[in-house]
Amino acid sequence: MPLSGFERRHGELYCEGASLSAIAEKADTPTYVYSGTTILDNYRSYAAALSTLPHEIHYAVKANSSLGILALLAREGAGFDIVSGGELFRVLQAGGDPARVVFSGVGKTRQELVYALEQGTGWFNCESEAELRLLAELASDAGAAPSVALRVNPNVDAQTHPYIATGLSAHKFGIDIAEAERIYRRADEFAPLRLEGVSCHIGSQIFNTQAFFDALDLVLALIERLRDDGANITQLDLGGGLGVAYKPSDTTPVIADYASRLAALLQGRGLKLTLEPGRSIVGQAGVLLTRVLYRKPAATKTFIVVDAAMNDLLRPALYQAHHEIVPVIDRQRPNLRADVVGPVCESGDFLAKDRDMPDVQPGELLAAATAGAYGFVLASNYNARPRAAEVLVEGDRWRIIRDRESLDDLIRGERT
Ligand code: LLP
Repeated sequence: MPLSGFERRHGELYCEGASLSAIAEKADTPTYVYSGTTILDNYRSYAAALSTLPHEIHYAVKANSSLGILALLAREGAGFDIVSGGELFRVLQAGGDPARVVFSGVGKTRQELVYALEQGTGWFNCESEAELRLLAELASDAGAAPSVALRVNPNVDAQTHPYIATGLSAHKFGIDIAEAERIYRRADEFAPLRLEGVSCHIGSQIFNTQAFFDALDLVLALIERLRDDGANITQLDLGGGLGVAYKPSDTTPVIADYASRLAALLQGRGLKLTLEPGRSIVGQAGVLLTRVLYRKPAATKTFIVVDAAMNDLLRPALYQAHHEIVPVIDRQRPNLRADVVGPVCESGDFLAKDRDMPDVQPGELLAAATAGAYGFVLASNYNARPRAAEVLVEGDRWRIIRDRESLDDLIRGERT
């Protein structure tokens, strides 16, 4: 199964030392469950492989921004990649160091930039000349001199789902390399900003790491030209994007291989490397626990109706994403052709479609695998459904890091 930190004991699925049935008994369903050890192991794989190189690992908060997860990584020494003032607020609440935060994103508002400067955000990846100009003005007002990189768009095809590829010139992200080069040559115009980095992020869920190295070649060539021209470029941010397995048959890049190859290529170049991994840190560390409500036979298949829906896990509906769905208690039984669907009133509300599923019965628990990244963060209150609870497991111990929403939470801030 494409999960790490989870195993079967006598047929029952455990997250580390905690039984998922016991968790569901106390925390109810739907509930996201994460393996803290797996998250730390993945983070440490990056750190160990890059240890010979000056580097920063900025966990991409968007993948899973729950305070319990951010605090776990902050304690381990991670920096953070954020794309909104809200994500910065979360990082600060979780004990993250603002000096080790990089603020990325194509549409930062004036308000967000002011807040980020006030909080001492160390790094900004800018995506347009207009944004750079605004940041320079605001930094000057605030008496700040943050480090800045231009996010360049290398026009490299990441060969991933079109919604999560970002490195082609057809995408809204980054600045064309030639254009960026012209801006770097006018760096003085943007004082007090220190234009000392180049950043690049070509997409997410990437299996073919060659795309990263193609982008790296183009970025290194740019840095060389800028340095020849007297620019002091000392930082390189290569973004996130490493893919993880969703299907048992997926062969995915290994964090240590990718990061050690980067370390080898960048040795002795006088550059500090930043990576912004999200999915490869938390993706396989999480499941969404759900309970079967009903079975509904239809002409060509059976509908297995569960208590989790597209508002809890949007990826199948939005990206046609595959998540393995397994019973928490495994027992011998026949398979059937089924759709696993939620209670939301849309035909796009499914967790699995036309899947060979074990013949599960109402009341049974299922786990949707590889749900640690872009799971809870994409959850909504659609159909006025309270959002799920979240549990973090560390060894034999587990705790609720987010309460299930109540009916009162659903109407917070509203008036008739
Ligand atoms: N840095 C930047 C600038 C990004 O835009 C992203 C992801 C990352 C880092 C982290 O990428 P990762 O290591 O997680 O691949 N909701 C989609 C994924 C959206 C990715 C957006 N950007 C999904 O569920 O597949």
